[in-house]
Amino acid sequence: MSADVLIGVYPPAELSVLHARRTTPAWPLAEAGLTLTHLGRGAVWLALRALGLRGGSRLAMPAYHCGSEVEAAHLAGLEVEFYRVDDQLRVDEDDLARVAAVTDAVYLISCFGFPTVARPSGSRVIEDAAHGLFSLHAGTPVGAGAEAAVFCPRKSLGTPDGGAVVVPAGRQIDVSEGRAPVRPMARSVASLVAARAAIARRRQLRARAARAIARMSRGDAAAREGTLTETVIGEWNLEVGDMEAAARAPSRLTAAVLGRVDGAAIRARRRRNYLRLRDELAELTLEPFRDLAEGTCPLYFPLLAGDRSRAIAALLARGVRPLEIWPVPHPILDRRRFPEPERARLSLLALPVHQALEDWHMDIVLAAVKDVLAKPSA
Ligand SMILES: Cc1ncc(COP(=O)(O)O)c(C=O)c1O
Repeated sequence: MSADVLIGVYPPAELSVLHARRTTPAWPLAEAGLTLTHLGRGAVWLALRALGLRGGSRLAMPAYHCGSEVEAAHLAGLEVEFYRVDDQLRVDEDDLARVAAVTDAVYLISCFGFPTVARPSGSRVIEDAAHGLFSLHAGTPVGAGAEAAVFCPRKSLGTPDGGAVVVPAGRQIDVSEGRAPVRPMARSVASLVAARAAIARRRQLRARAARAIARMSRGDAAAREGTLTETVIGEWNLEVGDMEAAARAPSRLTAAVLGRVDGAAIRARRRRNYLRLRDELAELTLEPFRDLAEGTCPLYFPLLAGDRSRAIAALLARGVRPLEIWPVPHPILDRRRFPEPERARLSLLALPVHQALEDWHMDIVLAAVKDVLAKPSA
């Protein structure tokens, strides 16, 4: 089956914002203490440095993580002490307090844009809001108030690259020299533009773009064959030089877009799209993701799928391109000591809710999910 549309989890290029008038962007994009980087892991790298964490320092990190943030800490020579996260992906606050008491700082991750509110008293906190740009908790932006906050605008804004770190004004950030490499950025822009065409209103245009992407994407070929995990994973075994490169300035295009985006409008659209899925699929996600508290700006909808590889291949055939969510933890984690998130690693996939999607796109996503769930062997 080949679809006449391709709806991905991350937003496509939104070059029209370059014509928008510059306004004061939402927090943190106009902060005095903001530093933009090429990638999110580069922002983590700079955050660790800003807090004076170096070889021999001890950092508390969650047992459920993406892996590239742990790689940054590992390469910085830190001793990582993991704290427990339960089978619903909630932080085990007693375990966090225990680990926080013996570490120099605590690293918190707001998964999928949902704020992590645990705060061990007396600890310095790095808040990873790589998924949480424009998310609010009780009216306050996620990341505000931390000693350092890390963002990954490339995941939420359709830019070719982009990480960001925010530290309180006055604290020094020691940036890496140089800028993101030009050629990979040009490739990235081309694929973001193709992704935009693949969700266009004009059917012929989007069908052509969807076919072209299907031919060229290594990830999609792996998804069709059921070998996505091993093809996509590769965020570790990096070197210090990779982190320094990730900590360089982003491409000029990314910097220009970041000065013009409308955070409130993005949050409103993502919430609307999320609720569309949540209203029909609530029992197929973990408990913390069934409610969308006021202000939460979700990155995607996490869906539990019994046979995830099959579900991903079947959704792709219907024009929806999910992602596996954090299937493999960083190798320094002893998985037997921290078994609680294993089901999530095995079963969670991300469904799109991003701001470029209108109601008719969400109809397609929902119909595809229902069809796939109704036909276990399709
Ligand atoms: C929670 C978290 N932190 C940090 C990062 C690093 O971002 P990037 O891939 O842009 O280096 C990611 C994504 O990979 C992430 O999911």
